[in-house]
Amino acid sequence: MDTSAFQPMQGMTDLAAPEIALWQRLEAEARRTLALYGFTEVRTPVVEQTAVFTRSLGETTDVVQKEMYTFTDRGGRSLTLRPEGTAGVIRYALGLGVESDGARLYYIGPMFRCERPQAGRKRQFHQLGVEAFGAPNPAADAEIIAMQLHLLEAWGLKGFTLDLNTRGVPEDRPAVTQGLADAARPHLGALCADCQRRFETNILRLLDCKKESCRQIVAGLPPTTQFMSAESRQYLDEVLRLLQKIGVPARVNPQLVRGLDYYVHTVWEIRHGALGAQDALSGGGRYRVTMGDKTFDGVGFAIGLERAIMAVQKDNPTLTQEQPRLMVWLVSMGAAALTANLDLAQNLRRQGVACGLDLAARSMKAQMRAANKSGATTVLIRGDQELEQGTVTLKNMADGTQQAVPLAELTARLM
Ligand code: HAM
Repeated sequence: MDTSAFQPMQGMTDLAAPEIALWQRLEAEARRTLALYGFTEVRTPVVEQTAVFTRSLGETTDVVQKEMYTFTDRGGRSLTLRPEGTAGVIRYALGLGVESDGARLYYIGPMFRCERPQAGRKRQFHQLGVEAFGAPNPAADAEIIAMQLHLLEAWGLKGFTLDLNTRGVPEDRPAVTQGLADAARPHLGALCADCQRRFETNILRLLDCKKESCRQIVAGLPPTTQFMSAESRQYLDEVLRLLQKIGVPARVNPQLVRGLDYYVHTVWEIRHGALGAQDALSGGGRYRVTMGDKTFDGVGFAIGLERAIMAVQKDNPTLTQEQPRLMVWLVSMGAAALTANLDLAQNLRRQGVACGLDLAARSMKAQMRAANKSGATTVLIRGDQELEQGTVTLKNMADGTQQAVPLAELTARLM
């Protein structure tokens, strides 16, 4: 039988126990940390009208040109599975009107990009992202970067580096484009085919080409800040000064451009040594996006959660271990005991004790085997005799000892 129709799509995976416990722990820690900075959660739809992304991310970006899952729905509308979270949050903020100024929002959820799957690169992946709206201000950029490092430390991460750069303001673009083009033109023939195309369409993207031959040429190009206005350079200097003041180690990487077009001023990326070729744990920056009749200024970042999990497994293995938990397995000998245990299990669960029991009235041996498999620390056994006496037999699974306990004392004994 051909079962391929019932496999998940390439680059998309099911997330389940036991790893899901680690996801939940990271998410809980993130919610706690982000609340300290006044962020609240927003859950936007996974599907948006395509224009939400094309207008904000930029028509010439790889994400828009090659990676979006775009389709026409039954009403003839062009829709897209969100490839990132910023555009949808801005679309939401548009509806907030003046309230959006100063809004601090975070999101956790799946994103979709039709890229070639490989280790650390999925077609459905998950981001934890934050967006803080408000006029450009180096202090806001520094605070969000510091918050991100606070979060990574709360997860127990150590082996990461922070690279920072500036994209300047839109008014800098003609001079930056011209300056880069003049410097790169003599090497045009030696650039890869992709970069020869980028030279015409989006010359900044030459700077982050991964091919070694291009990297050597790029290393010899002047930094883009050389072509920017004094205002843009001062903005970067101020962000760096503030970061140093608050003890955040950042280094300027003149080759860092980021793959999305909405960025202005500060951009940054965090890499982690455990991630291999896809080593970007997170990317962020300040942006300016016009949607409808409104221009949004904001600063934010998104962390790839699959990659965060890989990094935590390396840096903080104790977090990845299953938390021991109290668990009782109820063994029932006979139909009357099963009914009584069903009721008892409900009572215990209401008091916060995790319980399991065999509902199929199997043999004692089969029930004990199930108890073993469950990892329960205590087994509670009842048959006609215990029912008559108002007791239960408790078996300690660690040392095998057994004891009769009056029902009235059970909760106290378990706790
Ligand atoms: P991004 O750099 O495109 O930025 O994505 C952020 C992070 O998502 C990456 O650093 C990576 O960890 C993860 N990621 C991206 N693509 C994949 C993939 N195919 N598989 C696994 N993980 C992936 C943004 O999306 C911006 N919206 C970030 C931002 C928010 N800037 C300002 N606010």
